[in-house]
Amino acid sequence: MEGPAFGAGERLTPALILGIETSCDETAAAVVDEEGNVRSNVVSSQAALHARYGGVVPEVASRRHLELLLPVVREALERAGVGLEGVGRVAVTRGPGLVGALLVGLSAAKAIALARRLPLVPVDHLHGHVASLFLRPRPLAPPFLCLLASGGHTLLLDVQDYSTFKRLGSTIDDAAGEAFDKGARMLGLPYPGGPALDALARRGDPEAYMFPVARVGGLDFSFSGVKTALLYAVRGLEPAELERRRADLAAGYQRAIVRALVERALAAIERHGFERLAIVGGVAANSALRAALPAAIAAPLELCTDNAAMIASAARHLQPISYPHYLALDAFASSRTA
Ligand code: KG4
Ligand code: ZN
Repeated sequence: MEGPAFGAGERLTPALILGIETSCDETAAAVVDEEGNVRSNVVSSQAALHARYGGVVPEVASRRHLELLLPVVREALERAGVGLEGVGRVAVTRGPGLVGALLVGLSAAKAIALARRLPLVPVDHLHGHVASLFLRPRPLAPPFLCLLASGGHTLLLDVQDYSTFKRLGSTIDDAAGEAFDKGARMLGLPYPGGPALDALARRGDPEAYMFPVARVGGLDFSFSGVKTALLYAVRGLEPAELERRRADLAAGYQRAIVRALVERALAAIERHGFERLAIVGGVAANSALRAALPAAIAAPLELCTDNAAMIASAARHLQPISYPHYLALDAFASSRTA
């Protein structure tokens, strides 16, 4: 028999996933299709709101998520050119992150799924960062080694398939992004410090100061030593001299952090024989890190920092939870992935 039994468009439209991410200070929603094409990716950053406090204030973040989330979801659907009737499942970050912030996204995702009787997919934020690499137009297929460096985490992961990772190393103190942010603050740069320090370092001489590169056991990282070294260097300078040396300090500090990341990633490759290295998370946007690892596969800049397309991407490879079982889901603050 000729002709489709359904409306012509219906069978041609792959099932769409609505992703929601509110783990820290970005309110984000995205629409991704079953093949991993990003139909829309909306991120509303609260950075300016938190800048006056010099960092993210959890309670302020939760309240702002509450205000922003529905407009951001609406915009993601609008940009994708679909209504909720075009969505097949809802994916949402369940943790790790700020619990109050996560609960805003999780509650909204439950409500949307409940209203449309859709299945819900809870996603681990770290899985989301890795899954940023699975998106089109240049999807990366496992296995590969993944360096995940963000504001909250620094991990080396053996990505065995689309949803199985083994932790090979992690930071024993600060995350790399946290080290960037704290260093930036010491240098008088505005929050969020990572991008600002990256920009300032471009005008400095990375050889002018030699900051320590910690070499802790195995494939682990440590950034507390370099942070303290910067603190002493800054304290030792008169205000005018500090002003003159800020770019050099930024360049030297950045170099030490990047070196630690690169050394450990290369050691993991040597030890485990990976053929490919990928870098994800906010710090993967760092220009010096990208330059130091020219062969590494990096997600596009807009997918490095927190977003919801990566959460929807992870959901493509996870078992959805059907109505009403997801209603009992809770958010969690610390990592369970690796
Ligand atoms: O992945 P992300 O958006 O959020 C977390 O899951 O933490 O990462 C944010 C972190 C912040 O610490 C920010 O300063 C850092 O990534 N970051 C950078 C750069 N862009 C963002 N660090 C260094 N250089 C950059 N260009
Ligand atoms: Zn993140």
